[in-house]
Amino acid sequence: MNLTVAITGASGAILSRELLRALEADARVARVHFVASENSLRVLAEELGVSGRNDLLEKLLGIAPTKIIQHADTDIGAAIASGSHPSNGMIVLPCSMGTLASIALGLANSLISRAGDVTLKERRPLILCVRETPFNRIHLRNMTLAAEAGATIFPCIPAFYNHPAGSEEMARQFAFRVLTHVGLPQPGAFVWKPEE
Ligand SMILES: Cc1cc2nc3c(=O)[nH]c(=O)nc-3n(C[C@H](O)[C@H](O)[C@H](O)COP(=O)(O)O)c2cc1C
Repeated sequence: MNLTVAITGASGAILSRELLRALEADARVARVHFVASENSLRVLAEELGVSGRNDLLEKLLGIAPTKIIQHADTDIGAAIASGSHPSNGMIVLPCSMGTLASIALGLANSLISRAGDVTLKERRPLILCVRETPFNRIHLRNMTLAAEAGATIFPCIPAFYNHPAGSEEMARQFAFRVLTHVGLPQPGAFVWKPEE
């Protein structure tokens, strides 16, 4: 699989870290194109104490990435900006209300927004892990617009029925749900089996 992962300036950096770690470890994944918005860096610093764009992936993964390559959000000439580039889909985790609006309105004015636009026009899976609370009517309308264009609105709402041991486990299980959704079920993912 060849996936695009974007992180934006919404809360939930721990969720993206778990997603990237799972993708790096998954042998079914050949390449991940990664883009961090400028504003995501501020949230990464606040929430994970990770600062700066340099070696960002290494800081998040704890190891040097082998298959994840980073692009600048300003690089609208990156491969993922074109529909001719083969891709199995795109995950935006977390997805801010600003990036949701940009994708829903088709602004395509940054690499993340453009790659989202391309993913929709090529009819590929686009998973928008939106994060805000409460939602105003603009947020709700933009989610509807994006969903009508083919995106999956996958809110950053973790489950509690699996009794996660802590926030990292909760984040990992959320990331696993996202990956299962794009056809990458993960070993260790909680599965509800009430009959057992
Ligand atoms: C610590 C922190 C937490 C934030 N959390 C959210 C959030 O949960 N949802 C959201 O839509 N914006 C949130 N914001 C605001 C966004 O970062 C801001 O709207 C930004 O312009 C989004 O830009 P981007 O979509 O290009 O990353 C947060 C900002 C900070 C500093």
